[in-house]
Amino acid sequence: MTDNIVEAFSKTRKAGAIASAALDEVVKIVKPGIATEQIDKLCFEFINDHGAYSAPLFYRGFPKSSCVSPNHVVCHGIPRDKILREGDIINVDVTVLKDGWHGDTSRMFFVGEVSTKAKKLIKTTYESMMKSINILKDGIRIGDIGSTIQGYVESKGFSVVRDFCGHGIGKNFHEEPNILHYGDPKTGNELKTGMIFTIEPMINEGKYETKILNDGWTAVTKDKTLSAQFEHTVGITDKSYEIFTLSKSGLDFPPYKI
Ligand code: MF3
Ligand code: CO
Ligand code: CO
Repeated sequence: MTDNIVEAFSKTRKAGAIASAALDEVVKIVKPGIATEQIDKLCFEFINDHGAYSAPLFYRGFPKSSCVSPNHVVCHGIPRDKILREGDIINVDVTVLKDGWHGDTSRMFFVGEVSTKAKKLIKTTYESMMKSINILKDGIRIGDIGSTIQGYVESKGFSVVRDFCGHGIGKNFHEEPNILHYGDPKTGNELKTGMIFTIEPMINEGKYETKILNDGWTAVTKDKTLSAQFEHTVGITDKSYEIFTLSKSGLDFPPYKI
């Protein structure tokens, strides 16, 4: 790897570590009765305390530091005074800007005890992301990622959201290329050593169509069924890949045993 790539990886590693550590803190407070804006406050403060910025804050006018997306919200939920109830599922998505480089990650959380079908959706979403990460290496194509996710998700009877995708990331929050979570093997551009991007599949219990609410941000499933998402920031190395946003406490997937 060239010096530039080594530097990009080391900066992204730092940003990614803060982002995943913020989600480790979220694990400690998610329970019935808290408001989604309390999660946002924790993320804002944790990220600031680590000498970094929350990239979502004021990004294209987004008003908060994180996205908190409950139940049928697909992504970009705006943290507010909404109280979480037993049985809700939520996605919390944080993006850290540290020393000029970004790290972007999200996880699902159970609010109290959740339904079997919610657990199955969440497990399938996580496994689809990890299966696609496992194939990463120099020379694979973007369609290989999408087809791995789509094939697995559809085999479980769920659907892959088309309206949002993963993205290159680095000095900018969102860069080329788009990483689609559906598609055909051996299609699309090749991934090359040194590329850094996110994989962040949004998976619906029902149909894949989404719509945006009047706040201009909140994306929901059109059919009001549940939606789940996980996100890692990853990089292609000489021989395989690196995940920059793994939990150092093993809290990558719920239920979080703490
Ligand atoms: N973190 C989201 C992503 O994974 C983007 C959020 S943009 C915001 O790409 F403005 F809603 F924060
Ligand atoms: Co992202
Ligand atoms: Co994100």
